[in-house]
Amino acid sequence: MPDSKIPQDAITPESVFLNRRNFMRAGLVAGTALATSAAYRAFNPIIAQETSTPEPALALQSATDKLNTWQEITHYNNFYEFSTSKQAVAARAADFITTPWHVEVGGLVAKPQVFDMLDLLKLEQAEFIYRHRCVEGWSMVIPWQGFELRKLLELVAPTISNGFVAFETYYDAQQMPNGRFAGIELPYVEGLRLDEAMHPLTILATGLYGKPMPNQNGAPIRLVVPWKYGFKGIKSIRKITVVDTMPPTTWHKSAPQEYGFYANVNPDVAHPRWSQADEQRIGEFRRRPTQMFNGYADQVAHLYQGMNLEENF
Ligand code: MTE
Repeated sequence: MPDSKIPQDAITPESVFLNRRNFMRAGLVAGTALATSAAYRAFNPIIAQETSTPEPALALQSATDKLNTWQEITHYNNFYEFSTSKQAVAARAADFITTPWHVEVGGLVAKPQVFDMLDLLKLEQAEFIYRHRCVEGWSMVIPWQGFELRKLLELVAPTISNGFVAFETYYDAQQMPNGRFAGIELPYVEGLRLDEAMHPLTILATGLYGKPMPNQNGAPIRLVVPWKYGFKGIKSIRKITVVDTMPPTTWHKSAPQEYGFYANVNPDVAHPRWSQADEQRIGEFRRRPTQMFNGYADQVAHLYQGMNLEENF
C-alpha cells in the first residue's frame, strides 16, 4: 500500500443513491446498529439482479454512519493479485473462477477438514454491517453477510487455546497475472491470535448487499475483522491453519516497520509516512476523526489489556 492518497475521482459525490424504502427502514432502527456494531440477523438471500445499489437484507444505518453504495464498495478495491489500481480491480477480476471452491481447515485441531464452499454456505448466514478502515486512510461502511469464524473453528476443534490462526489466499498466476507485478510475495497470507479469531465480531464473509461476494471483494469467502485495518481482511481464502507461533503476514513481511501483525485501528499510532488520526469516508467531502479500534473498543479493548499498542502496532 505505497500510496495513501485517494484520487478525487474516487470520491463519490452527493448523488449517492439509496432508495426511499431503505431510508424508511433505516429510520426505524437508526442509532441501534453501528453503535452496537454487530448488527445481524438470520439472512435470507435476495435473488435480485439490480446494477444499482441493491437493498441490503436489513438496512441498519445511523446519522453518522451511512452504508456505502454497491458501486463504491465494488469499484474501489485493494486486491493486488489482479491490479494495484483500485478502480481496475473489478474488471480485471471479472473472470476469476471461484466454483468449485474448497477451504482446507487444519493444523493444531482434532478434526481437520476440507470444506466444500457449498457446505460453508449451508452454515447459518447473517448480516453484519461493519465499518471498514484501510490503513491508507480511507473508510467505508459495508453490509456483509457471512458467519462467525469461531463457528468454523469449533467444527474442527482446536487443540490449543493460546495459539494463532494462519490464513492463505488462493494463488494462480494464470488467473491473477498481475501477481508478478504486485510487489508483494504471493500467496497473500494473514494471521490472527486465536482469541481474536474466536471473537464474535470476526467473520468469514460470503457476500455483501445480499449478493454472493463479488470477485473483486474476495470471492467466494474472505475474512473481515472490523476493528483492524483492512489489510487483515484476506480475500479468496483457500487455507486456514491453527498454529502455535505467530504466523507471517504479507504486509509485515513486505515492510515490517510500517505494517505490524496486530494492525488494530488506532488514531494515536501514526503510520511512519502518514497520520492515522483521521480518515476519508468514501462518498464524503470532509475527513472524519478515526475512532480507537474503529469504534469497536467496547467489545475488543480487553483483548489487548496490558499490551503496549505502540510496540504491538
Ligand atoms: N487479500 C488479498 N488476497 N490480496 C490483497 O491485495 N488487500 C487487502 C485486503 N485483502 C488484499 C487482500 C487490503 S490492503 C484491503 S484494504 C482490503 O482487502 C480491501 O478490501 P475491499 O477491496 O473489499 O475494500
